[in-house]
Amino acid sequence: MLDAAGDPKNKSADYHDAALPVDKRARAYLDINCAHCHTSTGSAGIDSKLELDVYTTDKDKLGYCKIPGSAGKGGGGLKFDIVPGSPEKSILYYRTATDESGAMMPQIGRALVHKEGAQIIYDWIKGMPPENCSGS
Ligand code: HEC
Repeated sequence: MLDAAGDPKNKSADYHDAALPVDKRARAYLDINCAHCHTSTGSAGIDSKLELDVYTTDKDKLGYCKIPGSAGKGGGGLKFDIVPGSPEKSILYYRTATDESGAMMPQIGRALVHKEGAQIIYDWIKGMPPENCSGS
């Protein structure tokens, strides 16, 4: 992503930097790899209402206990984008970690699971205060 006029405030963290808190790394990873589609103006923001850029603070938009608008077979049989505390129940992790076509994210330009990224997302969701998402 391009920084607005090179302003350092607009830079996201370096997700490779293991010294940073996991939420910073996860948000940077999502910003770089997902937000060009998953933003209010991107193609997927419109369909899926999932906004993964670093400026999003609204938990619904980030996918907390969010039932996917669009996922179809991409959900791996799971119900919510993020179940805080439970990465194995979270579509967002599933789609980062899978290599099944039609489910994997990003959709294009990716033939292998990006292990480091998937691990960061796993740790991030695992470290959230657990919530029991309800709803049908
Ligand atoms: C090339 C554009 C593109 C990129 C990059 C991308 N996505 Fe998506 N994403 C889509 C589209 C389009 C949809 C809606 C159709 C579908 O579900 O396959 C979607 C849907 C989703 C959904 C279901 C969301 C919902 O609530 O409906 C999740 C979760 C998701 N993406 C996660 C991610 C993650 C995590 C990344 C980064 C690792 C990512 N995506 C990168 C285009 C993209």
